[in-house]
Amino acid sequence: MSKHETTAPAVRATGIGKTFDTKAGPVQALTDVDLEVAAGEFVSLIGPSGCGKSTLMRLVADLDGPTTGRLEVFGKSPAQARQDQDYGIAFQQAGLLPWRTVADNIGLPLELHRMDRSARAARVAELAELVGLTDFAGSYPDQLSGGMQQRVAIARSLAEQPRLLLMDEPFGALDEMTRERMQTELSRIVAETGAAVVFVTHSIPEAVFLSDRVVVMSPRPGRITTLISTGIGPGVVRDEQLRETTGFFEKVTEVREALHGAPVGSSAREGR
Ligand SMILES: Nc1ncnc2c1ncn2[C@@H]1O[C@H](COP(=O)(O)OP(=O)(O)OP(=O)(O)O)[C@@H](O)[C@H]1O
Ligand SMILES: [Mg+2]
Repeated sequence: MSKHETTAPAVRATGIGKTFDTKAGPVQALTDVDLEVAAGEFVSLIGPSGCGKSTLMRLVADLDGPTTGRLEVFGKSPAQARQDQDYGIAFQQAGLLPWRTVADNIGLPLELHRMDRSARAARVAELAELVGLTDFAGSYPDQLSGGMQQRVAIARSLAEQPRLLLMDEPFGALDEMTRERMQTELSRIVAETGAAVVFVTHSIPEAVFLSDRVVVMSPRPGRITTLISTGIGPGVVRDEQLRETTGFFEKVTEVREALHGAPVGSSAREGR
């Protein structure tokens, strides 16, 4: 766990803005985003489609640069953090290599970093089991459903036990039952590894279940409008009972109202 000992926050975004130049003119995707994610903290981003969630993730992952502001990942530039393999990525598109088997896709980062073959095989088997794909280890991505492909991508992002996971709607393609199982698994994994997570989702219950804090964003240009602590706390493994507690329902309501811009306690949204 020494890899995870650090005092620098996992992510520190200060005054981040991002404008895309398009043929139709500039598109302001993000403005004035300030956010700090502590090491080991689980933070979800939630907000309407097009509000810049994926853009923000891409900036943290060094796949694009901000127009304004400053980003640090464990106190370093995103580019340095990328070089140091500080983070793993599971994004909306699974992004698998079609000519590689499930096992070889999961093991790709380990292979790139020259992990010994037998250690790699053991780790890949463990990861395949974790995401319920043991029986498909020898299959190719086009032989899998969309949800199964997404699970391969999740296993791959976990391969090197990164201290930061960037996950952009990783469970969006899963059926409800698998999705809830994956949420519990993810909660267990992050509690075990101490990894920080930045997680994008459109599901309010999913955000509340998994997160220590939920970040609510406004429609484009995306800004952070509300930060909600779930009160569940970092390092706590979420179990199925949590979903049935009053505290959980209250937080779901609080996030929903923040998202809709209604005051907490207002009855205007009842019945939705
Ligand atoms: N490469 C790009 N070039 C031009 N505009 C872009 C580019 N990437 C994103 N945008 C624009 O930036 C805005 C934010 O897009 P982004 O993909 O970050 O939204 P999002 O919050 O992830 O939405 P969703 O919930 O639908 O995934 C959108 O208006 C989008 O059209
Ligand atoms: Mg997106």
